[in-house]
Amino acid sequence: MSWAVRDSCFDKQLVTTNGNKYMLGNGYMGYRGTLEEFGKSELVAVTLAGLYDKAGEKWREPVNAPNGLWTKIVCNGQPLSVHEHEPSSHVQKLNIRSAIHHRSTEYGMTDGGTLTFTADRFVSQDNLHLLVSKCSIRSTQDCQIVIETGIDVDVWDINGPHLYGQKVQLQGDALLSSSTSGELNIPVVVAEKAVFNFGEQQLDEGTAIRRISFEARAGETYEWFKYVTVYTGLDVSGPESEAVKSVHAAETLGYDELLKAHRQLWEERWSLSDVMIEGDEDAQFALRYSIYQLLIIAPTASEKVSIPARGLSGQVYKGAVFWDTEMFMLPFFLHTDPKVARNLMMYRIHTLDGARRKAAEYGFLGAFYAWESQDTGDDACTLFNVNDVFTGRPMRTYFRDKQVHISGDVVHGIWKYVQFTGDESLLTSGGAEVIWECARFFYSYAYYNPVKERFEILDVTGPDEYHERVNNNAFTNALVKETLEIALRTAELLQDKYPEVYSQLSSVFSEGPFLTEFKAMLDRFYVPQPDPASLLIEQFDRYFTLEDVGLPELKYRVLNKNEYLGGGNGLATTTTILKQADVVLMLNLFKHSFTKEVKQANWEFYEPRTEHGSSLSPCIYALVAADIGSPDWGYPYFMRTATVDLTGESKQYVGDLYIGGTHPAANGGAWMAAVLGFTGLDYDGGTVHIKPSLPKHWQSVELPVTLRGDTFKLRISKDEVTVTTAADYSESLLFSVQGREGKSCAAGESLRLALTETTV
Ligand code: BGC
Repeated sequence: MSWAVRDSCFDKQLVTTNGNKYMLGNGYMGYRGTLEEFGKSELVAVTLAGLYDKAGEKWREPVNAPNGLWTKIVCNGQPLSVHEHEPSSHVQKLNIRSAIHHRSTEYGMTDGGTLTFTADRFVSQDNLHLLVSKCSIRSTQDCQIVIETGIDVDVWDINGPHLYGQKVQLQGDALLSSSTSGELNIPVVVAEKAVFNFGEQQLDEGTAIRRISFEARAGETYEWFKYVTVYTGLDVSGPESEAVKSVHAAETLGYDELLKAHRQLWEERWSLSDVMIEGDEDAQFALRYSIYQLLIIAPTASEKVSIPARGLSGQVYKGAVFWDTEMFMLPFFLHTDPKVARNLMMYRIHTLDGARRKAAEYGFLGAFYAWESQDTGDDACTLFNVNDVFTGRPMRTYFRDKQVHISGDVVHGIWKYVQFTGDESLLTSGGAEVIWECARFFYSYAYYNPVKERFEILDVTGPDEYHERVNNNAFTNALVKETLEIALRTAELLQDKYPEVYSQLSSVFSEGPFLTEFKAMLDRFYVPQPDPASLLIEQFDRYFTLEDVGLPELKYRVLNKNEYLGGGNGLATTTTILKQADVVLMLNLFKHSFTKEVKQANWEFYEPRTEHGSSLSPCIYALVAADIGSPDWGYPYFMRTATVDLTGESKQYVGDLYIGGTHPAANGGAWMAAVLGFTGLDYDGGTVHIKPSLPKHWQSVELPVTLRGDTFKLRISKDEVTVTTAADYSESLLFSVQGREGKSCAAGESLRLALTETTV
């Protein structure tokens, strides 16, 4: 079974898509899948997690560091690059098992010979500041070669420039580029060390480029190595000396040792996360690839950053963190790497003050989390997010002000983390305050309707962004209700187990609405319910009165392919067409509160009305289809989700604005659809429930799961589920299949549970 993504020719049209498809990264930095000779026009980017900068009045975005792996070959005076010289053969390959990028390019020369340039690179998982590459040249004829290599300081930015005072110096034989970010004056340093054992090296004063000239002999392979380190003032107080020290240490260890350590860590990561599907090679590869994309952006070493909506693939969407993290990516980490899950949730705790500022700005209490969150938690989302294609004017959108469900999403994530890991320290380290502050925010946002005698949530935008400023969006209301419940349960838990912490934390809330008010609001809180006859849940008040137009008809009305369908006068606004899963997402999130019939009726009603205009949408339809026992309905939605970054079939540009990049929420959604959907895995904090619903052609699925400190293997086939535990398994979990009574499994044993109902 292949672990490689591969292209066997060079296609100019695919440079941008391949930049995403061949991404490397380690959570500290992302390195786009570009070629060695590429520069800013090909969107080369070394995107740093958590370092943001604002240039003038343009929006803030993450900083791209100079590219220390830049390399270009000149042969007999002629520059060889895929742009300037069409290659006679070209391979670009990514090994997702060990996160290594490879390119091999053969150029035909005028005298009939060929020259082959190869380069392997990896972004070290062992030293998160390190990039490593091994290159080689081989020519069939004697020729004169110049290798130009060094640090390309002319970086690609969407809204830059961000780096000022660029200074290049030589420290011993390491090249050092230092600059400072414009807004916060944070030093950004790149050190580069190139190791050649041939040729004459020359350094042009003041530039960060070395020239290595030599006479290449026919048939001989010339190999060299590059070590590059990246440090910023956010990492250490002396980034220059640290970068130089670290690049020398890397050179001393050498390529093979560095690769060994990197590989070893990747083996360990896959041993905790690989999902094996028997009977479907395409799904197998797409799912592994989705997992790979999640692993390269996971913040393994920092709780100050989370995962942006485009991962570390550049500056699109301002490098901002959305609800995508809690609702679409967190489940993967909760089942495979709880430390990363903790870091993601700690990020929300660290940005609580930003959320408090946003609530106060709008005149509310508590914490209103940023729709687009960066380093401080202040909202990076602008009030005018979309340009009208007809007038060119910015359109007022209500993502920032009205997508209040974000605070409920954060609370949902924190509670899931505690439920999955049993690690209550998250609550005592700030999690409880986040939860209570979000509940206070909703309390101050809600309206009491004296006629209907209930609390309602008015004037919001739900997940479906095409219908802004609606009342009683079912999804939002369900999350507000959950937030209030979690706020009360958190108080009970702390009172019971950590009374001193409780009295200290809760004293802050003595002034305003707190538990009594939460309880009162919960007792009279309105969440839209299924209509008894049709079983349909109305997405928001009066949604059913909108024009029921049908997607083909709506598309027929489109005048410009880039026109925005939502907003004040968008085509979808007055119709029942929705951008992405909304009610169906709620049915997935609260799946135990609804019957199969309700889920099916709503799936059938809403799916034809869903544009899937967001990559967050199809996976939810796959999940609910599996849940209601119709996995084959769900399968195409799963595949669409799992292949989004392989096919590049998503919008790349709006006007001249690049909006492409990777899609981590879809990557997480693919994992959710396969594991929580098709294998039906559902942990409730005590028992692991398994209700398989495999697509027809899947013979089995096998995966490791980490819960409460234990890792075990699950194998789900057509007729049985096998649980295999490790020798040190703590025996704390129960395993239940198809709703039957839970069974325990001894350490180092296998438990086989027969499937009695058809699993489709
Ligand atoms: C979706 C949002 C999502 C954002 C970032 C938008 O297109 O509608 O739900 O959070 O993209 O992925």
